This record gives sequence, structure tokens and C-alpha cells, in this order.
Amino acid sequence: MERAVVLITGCSSGIGLSLAVRLASDPSRAYKVYATMRNLAKKERLMECVKGSCKDTMDVLQMDVTDQQSILEARDMIKEKRVDILVCNAGVGLIGPLEAQSLEAMRQILEVNVLGTIRTIQAFLPGMKAQRSGRVLVTGSVGGLQGDDPSGQLTPAGLPFNEVYCASKFAVEGVCESLAILLQHFNIHVSLIECGPVNTNFLANLRRPEPGEAALVQVDPRTQGLYDAYIRHCSSMFQDAAQEAEDIAEVFVEAIRSQSPALRYYTHSALLPLTTLKLAARDSSQYIKTMSHFIFSSHKAEEP
Ligand SMILES: NC(=O)c1ccc[n+]([C@@H]2O[C@H](COP(=O)([O-])OP(=O)(O)OC[C@H]3O[C@@H](n4cnc5c(N)ncnc54)[C@H](OP(=O)(O)O)[C@@H]3O)[C@@H](O)[C@H]2O)c1
Repeated sequence: MERAVVLITGCSSGIGLSLAVRLASDPSRAYKVYATMRNLAKKERLMECVKGSCKDTMDVLQMDVTDQQSILEARDMIKEKRVDILVCNAGVGLIGPLEAQSLEAMRQILEVNVLGTIRTIQAFLPGMKAQRSGRVLVTGSVGGLQGDDPSGQLTPAGLPFNEVYCASKFAVEGVCESLAILLQHFNIHVSLIECGPVNTNFLANLRRPEPGEAALVQVDPRTQGLYDAYIRHCSSMFQDAAQEAEDIAEVFVEAIRSQSPALRYYTHSALLPLTTLKLAARDSSQYIKTMSHFIFSSHKAEEP
């Protein structure tokens, strides 16, 4: 049986690493995985996880999704000269008050999360179209809150102090949804794997204005207090509700194995699609109020 050729971005850690290990060591030996990462000096962790057991099912390639040349060079290194399953997973977070974010930091996030995803898809799409088959899977994010709405469900939406990160993940939703409609005509399926909090290097890697940094110091005290409350909320969400990267890899596998893959998969049954709250009032006012209460209720701010 011919192996399905899989290319995954961002395999130095977290979800990308777990998925690479999961597919390369699948007992069926049905996958040949090209695990890519921007810095090959970080490949030891991945190699340690497979412990030499995946010599014929996994190759590691350098690929920086912000560098067109490196994407094309990685594509040229694929021995099979085709990719059947493309996983756009590389991504970075950015938190902090919007007015304290530098243009450079915001550009970098959009460069990796939005343009990096688009560039990668662009590089492999013509091949998939020519072969009239393919899968494109993208690591999405509930972007915002993982909190209880009145029906006891969790809701995906915007999240304070994550404006640019959420904008980047919302943009990716638009890219995928638009492509999914077109690519049906080429037997190519697009799927978003929507994650809530996951225990990876994501928190350690996310960019934020440093404490004491001039732009942050200049932010008004009320916003600073709300930011502190958000940080506490975020820590407790990761502590109480985070999934493991291996759990996320299983959702990818479910999507990959499906004969008719959906556009969206939620990694946790509690992460339901948009949402009773948002639908309850079409102007989203109820959602905004509930979110604000949920995140900031512990913060005793003065009234406006
Ligand atoms: N963890 C969560 O709570 C969570 C929730 C929702 C969605 N997600 C999404 O899940 C995806 C994977 O993140 P993770 O949680 O596994 O975090 P992670 O452990 O930090 O992994 C992120 C990966 O992206 C790579 N990357 C960053 N910039 C890159 C670039 N320019 N080119 C290629 N690779 C690059 C990182 O490489 P380096 O090691 O070189 O930095 C790393 O391999 C991201 O798209 C993230 O937005 C995560």
C-alpha cells in the first residue's frame, strides 16, 4: 500500500510534535511524515520521542513559514514529489494591552499565523489540485474564552488582551472556509482543528510586552488592573481545563481518517461551535457582557 505523504509545520514542540510522532508511529505504517520546523537545532526532542523507530516513516525538514524560500526548499526535498495531507500548525501567541503592542510584534504574529499559513497552502495547493486529491488541516483556536455560557457550554470568540492573536486566528477561519467551498471541486478537504487551552510550549513562547517596558508602563492603571485579572484567569484556565497535545493529535487523526471530513473539529466536546450565547442576541451584546463578567469578575475595578 502506498503511504499517505503528510507534511506538518511547527514540529519542534507541542501539537506539531505530537502529531508527527502519532502518525509516524501509527501501527498501520500508512503515513510518511515530513515533520518540519524552523530551527533544526530543536529536532532532538522529536527524535527522542520516536527513538529511532520511525526511520522509514518520518523525515525532518527545515521550514520557516515566514520564509518563502525555505518552504519551497522543503517542498523540493519531498522524495515522493507530492503531499497528500498538509498540516498548517505553526503559530505564535501575543498578549497584552493593544496600545502597548509594537507594530513589529503585531506584524510578526500576522506574518506567522496568517501569511505563514497562506504561504504554506499556496506552495502545496497546485500539486493537490493536479492530483485531484488532498487534505489541508489547520490548527485553529477557539481564540477566546473557554468559559461557561448560561447553557453550560463553552464558546469560541474574541478574548481581551488577545486582539491580534484572535484576529490572526479569525483570519485563518476565513481563509479555510473560503477555500473549503472551492476545493470540493478538486476532491481536496479543508479542516480546522479548533483547540482550547493545550499544555504545550505555547504559553512560554507567546510574545508579550515585558513588565517595565515603556509602552506597558504608559498604559492607564485601570487597564493594567484588568490585564492582571486576565493573566490570573488565563493561568487558571490552563491549570484547570488544558488538554494534552496527544489528545489534539487524536482529533487530527479522526479528521484524517474520515471519508468525508468536516470543516471544523472541536478538540473537546465542551468547545461547541458558535454559540448559544452569540446566537441568543444577534448583536452579541449578551456575549460581551457574559465574557466580561467571566474574566474580570475577580477584579474589583472602580466603576467608569
Ligand atoms: N496551546 C494552546 O493553548 C493553543 C490553543 C489554541 C490553538 N493553538 C495553536 O496550536 C498551534 C501549535 O501551537 P502549540 O500549542 O503546539 O505551541 P508550541 O509548542 O509553541 O508550538 C508552536 C510551533 O510553531 C513553531 N513556529 C513558530 N514560528 C514559526 C515559523 N515562523 N515557522 C515555522 N514554525 C514556527 C514553533 O517553532 P519554534 O520552537 O522554533 O518556536 C513551534 O514548533 C499554533 O497554531 C497555536 O496557535 C494552541
